[in-house]
Amino acid sequence: ADRLSAKQEKTLAMIKPDALQSFGSILAAVEAAGFTVGRLRMCHLTLADAEGFYAVHAGRPFFGPLTAFMSSGRIVAMELLAPGAIRKWRQLLGPTNTATARQEAPNSLRARFGSDNTRNACHGSDATETAAQEAAFFFKQPVGRCCTTTNTSLAL
Ligand code: TYD
Repeated sequence: ADRLSAKQEKTLAMIKPDALQSFGSILAAVEAAGFTVGRLRMCHLTLADAEGFYAVHAGRPFFGPLTAFMSSGRIVAMELLAPGAIRKWRQLLGPTNTATARQEAPNSLRARFGSDNTRNACHGSDATETAAQEAAFFFKQPVGRCCTTTNTSLAL
């Protein structure tokens, strides 16, 4: 009850296809850091879904490889709640580029589970507005081959 009494912030976290098999270790880190897990969904994004999720990056040179990677296997999307959850989760993720993460933040999730600058294990929203948009992307509508039912009783 104590951890729910402080002012909670919500972020949208994703375990990317390269790290799905490390789901247990990542969830252990989530738990150890004191996050509460809200809604959670495993799905396999279509290419169009991945292009929609990363629409802000359309036109960047890495957009094709990124969206191909993101639609190459299953992902887990989850809402994480904690005071300062957005910053806190990105801190746990470490730098975008796995090589940089290994240098600068060896205990971070990207250092531990990422492979390169594109296959970097996990995603985290970067601001309040994107957190809300990304949560809506996964939980307000059917996506790709997702199960279309959602359990809204955990939507804190
Ligand atoms: P970005 O929003 O810059 O990073 P972050 O995920 O840390 O918020 O980029 C989104 C994703 O795009 C990133 O997780 C991996 C991919 N990406 C590349 O493949 N190459 C790149 O050079 C960059 C900057 C990102």
